[in-house]
Amino acid sequence: MGFSTQCIHAGNEPEPTTGAVTVPIFQTSTYVQPELGRHKGFEYARTKNPTRDALEANLAALERGKRAHCFASGMSATDTVFRLLKSGDHVVAGENMYGGSYRLFSRVLEKFGLEFTYVDTSSLDAVRGAIRPSTRILFLETPTNPMMTITDLAACAEIAHQSNILVVVDNTFCSPYLQQPLELGADIVVHSTTKFINGHSDSVGGVVVSKSDEIADQIGFLQNAVGAILSPFDSWLVLRGVKTLAVRMKQHEENGRAMAQYLAGQSKVQKVNYPGLPDHPQHELAKRQMKGFGALMSFELGSYERAKAFLDRVRLCSLGESLGGVETLISHPVSMTHGSVPEETRRRLGITPGLVRISVGIEDVEDLIADLDQAFAAI
Ligand SMILES: Cc1ncc(COP(=O)(O)O)c(C=O)c1O
Repeated sequence: MGFSTQCIHAGNEPEPTTGAVTVPIFQTSTYVQPELGRHKGFEYARTKNPTRDALEANLAALERGKRAHCFASGMSATDTVFRLLKSGDHVVAGENMYGGSYRLFSRVLEKFGLEFTYVDTSSLDAVRGAIRPSTRILFLETPTNPMMTITDLAACAEIAHQSNILVVVDNTFCSPYLQQPLELGADIVVHSTTKFINGHSDSVGGVVVSKSDEIADQIGFLQNAVGAILSPFDSWLVLRGVKTLAVRMKQHEENGRAMAQYLAGQSKVQKVNYPGLPDHPQHELAKRQMKGFGALMSFELGSYERAKAFLDRVRLCSLGESLGGVETLISHPVSMTHGSVPEETRRRLGITPGLVRISVGIEDVEDLIADLDQAFAAI
């Protein structure tokens, strides 16, 4: 089946009792067992729920994985993956990733004896150089948030697998429509389903998609043991949202390209970070690795004062954290998503007080540009 067909049909079997075309919300905590020692595949709803099962089957298919497990948030999905490790294990991670992932690693997981080295994963030499005998996971985010740097997933997987290191990719920025890391050699994909996968800014959730049954069994064990599951209602919302992933992503992509062109020609913008622009340092790699360039980009306005004046003036574009919704969201990484990243690191990466990030929605792009035009007029 093609990707669009899978978005709609994978995991979505008509309900057997009534033939209902949508998977019902199985709002139950437990299941009656017909006799001791016999049940219908469902014992307790932390372990398994039919609505969550349907979503997990859908997302496993879209990411080309063996199985998927859905979590209460993107962060709980990532956290569960790291519970595969034990004290003393070492992780190589990208130096520019979602600030919440950095906070989880540096302020929570390090306390339990995991060790982290952060490198520029767009440099294969830097990745190679950071690997130690105790390295167990290479954690990648591409494009990075918010600088939009691209990491070569196939090359990193080759390096990591020479030392039996698991490659974990946070694919939130792309969704499986734009990039399928398991096909490029990764072992595990995580998502904040809060973003493009659900797409409607009405649910917080996460997913872990595993390449093999062996990894999936371990994630399933941890999911049940730790318990940060996605609720039946949220599973249903995401299952509904993902049906339109392909059509939404096409429009996000078209609007993203138009917005990047507009920003690149705007005299008040000093620099635009978008992999679809020919001057992006990894434009060719992005073309090879992704099926499009997406709807996220960041741009430099030169100072906090100019960024504030601009952001205070936008109307149609909503000032807020998050991304990947049908509505355009605009944010200020330094004071919002990347507040937990040390100032020195932010400065080195280019996450300056004048940097603005935009997640372009699927509105008429002319309206979005008109909104930005009037906001630029204020600075
Ligand atoms: C790239 C990325 N990964 C993970 C997360 C965390 O997801 P959640 O907010 O669903 O916990 C986010 C949230 O913004 C994100 O942008």
